[in-house]
Amino acid sequence: MGNYAMQEKYHIVTYGCQMNLHESEKIAGILRGMQYVETPTLGDADIIVFNTCCIRENAENHAFGNIGALKKLKKQKPSLIIAVGGCMTQEAGKTEALKKKFPFIDVMFGALNFEELQRLIEEKKRTKKKVIEIREKEGEIVETITPYRASYPNAWINITYGCNNFCSYCIVPYVRGRERSRKPEYILAEAEQLVKDGYKEITLLGQNVNSYGADGSTGMTFAELLDRVASIEGNFRVRFMTSHPKDFTKDVVDVMKKHSKICRLVHLPVQSGSNTVLAEMNRRYTREKYLQEIQMLREVLPEAEVTTDIIVGFPGETEEDYLQTEDLVKQVNFASAFTFVYSKRAGTRASTMENQIPEDVQKDRIMRLVELVNSLTRQKSETYVGKTVEILCEGFDEKKGMYLGRDEFGRMGYFNHDTDCIGKFIDLKIIRANGISLYGEVVDIKD
Ligand code: SAH
Ligand code: SF4
Ligand code: F3S
Repeated sequence: MGNYAMQEKYHIVTYGCQMNLHESEKIAGILRGMQYVETPTLGDADIIVFNTCCIRENAENHAFGNIGALKKLKKQKPSLIIAVGGCMTQEAGKTEALKKKFPFIDVMFGALNFEELQRLIEEKKRTKKKVIEIREKEGEIVETITPYRASYPNAWINITYGCNNFCSYCIVPYVRGRERSRKPEYILAEAEQLVKDGYKEITLLGQNVNSYGADGSTGMTFAELLDRVASIEGNFRVRFMTSHPKDFTKDVVDVMKKHSKICRLVHLPVQSGSNTVLAEMNRRYTREKYLQEIQMLREVLPEAEVTTDIIVGFPGETEEDYLQTEDLVKQVNFASAFTFVYSKRAGTRASTMENQIPEDVQKDRIMRLVELVNSLTRQKSETYVGKTVEILCEGFDEKKGMYLGRDEFGRMGYFNHDTDCIGKFIDLKIIRANGISLYGEVVDIKD
C-alpha cells in the first residue's frame, strides 16, 4: 500500500429516506471499486457526490444550498469532481435548473441509473467535459453492485424499487418509476451473508413492502419472504418498512408472531385521520379500515407498537379534518410519528387542486400536532422507567460520551460501559426518560 497517499478520496452527501441512504452505500461501493477511499472532510475530497431527495421543497432547498456552497472549493481545486444524482435530478426540469444555476457540476445522473456512475465518472475524466445522463424509465434490476455498508450492526436490504400507488401529493412514483420486486434468491442470499458477517439487524426496504411480488414475478408474497428471512439461523433482528394500510394483511402479522426475531413494530403511515382527505390523497383506505388493522395487529400481538407518518395542510383540509387526525393519533397511541407540512410537488395531482391551505394555517396545525405527538411519546417513555429492555447497541455518542442503541420498538437507549458494546444485545434497566430518549444501566451483555 505504498501509494496510499496518492489515492483519490470521495465524500458522499445524502438527503432523504432510508432507501436513499442505502443507495449511497451502493454508490460508496462503486467508488471503492474504482480505488477511491472515503474522507469525512468535504475539503479533502477529489470527488463529492450529492445523492438528493425531492419529497418536499425543503429537501431540495437543502441540496441547492449545499451544492451552491461548493463553488469556491471548485475554484480552488479545479480537479475536484462534483457529481449530483438521486431523486431531484430525476425530477422533470430539475437537471436543467441545476445545470444553469451551478455550471460547475461535472456529472449528473438520476435515481434510475446511479449504477452507471463508474462509467460516467470515467467519461468525465477522459473527455474533461460535463457528463449528464438521466434515464427516463426504470430498467432491469441491477444485482451486480456490492454496497459498502457504513451502518454496522444494522443493514438494509431492498426488496422492491419504485412505487405504483400515486398518492396524489407524492412525487416518488414519478422519480422512482414503477414498482419492481427483487427475486427472493438475491434477497435471501444477501440476508444470509449479512448474518454470517455478523450484522445484527436487517431491515427490508420498499415503498410498500406489502405489495412485494404483487406482479407475480417472485412466486412469493411479502409474508412468505419475511418468514424465509426470519428463518435464517443466527441471533439477529428483522424489521421492514414501509407497510401500506391499503395492503397490510394478517398473514404478515402471523409471521411476526411466529418469529421472535421480527421486531414487534409496524411503520404504518396513516397520513390523515379524515376520510375526505384520505380519498383526496388517493390512499385507498378509510380511517375505519386503518383502525381495524390496528385492532387486528393488537389482537394477534398485544405488545406490538405502531409508528406512522402524517401530513397536515393537504389541499382542502378543514379544521374539522385536522381534528380527526388529532383524534386518530390519540386513539391509536402511536409509539412515534413523523409529521410533515404538505409540500406542493410539481406534476402531482394535488399540486393542481384548489383550496391550497395558507401557510399560517399549516404552521398552526403542525405545531399543535407536534405537541400532541410529543406528549404521547413522553408519556410512553415514562412507562419504561424501572423496566429492563433489550437494546441493540449501535454506536457511541461522542457528545454524550455514552453508548446508544434501540429497543425493538425503535426507542433510543443510552448507557455507559467500559468495553466496546457496538453490535451487542444489551439488557438495559431504564433509570430515566427524557423526551423520546431513555437512559439506563447495563444488566447483561449478549452477543
Ligand atoms: N412509501 C411510503 C412513504 C414514502 S415518503 C408510504 O407510502 O407511506 C415518506 C413520507 O413523506 C410519506 O409517508 C408522507 O407522509 C411524506 N410525504 C410524501 N410526499 C409529501 C409531500 N408532498 N408533502 C409532505 N409530505 C410528504
Ligand atoms: Fe408516495 Fe404513496 Fe408511493 Fe408512498 S405509497 S411512495 S406516499 S405514492
Ligand atoms: Fe426517498 Fe426522497 Fe427519493 S424520500 S425515494 S429520496 S424523493
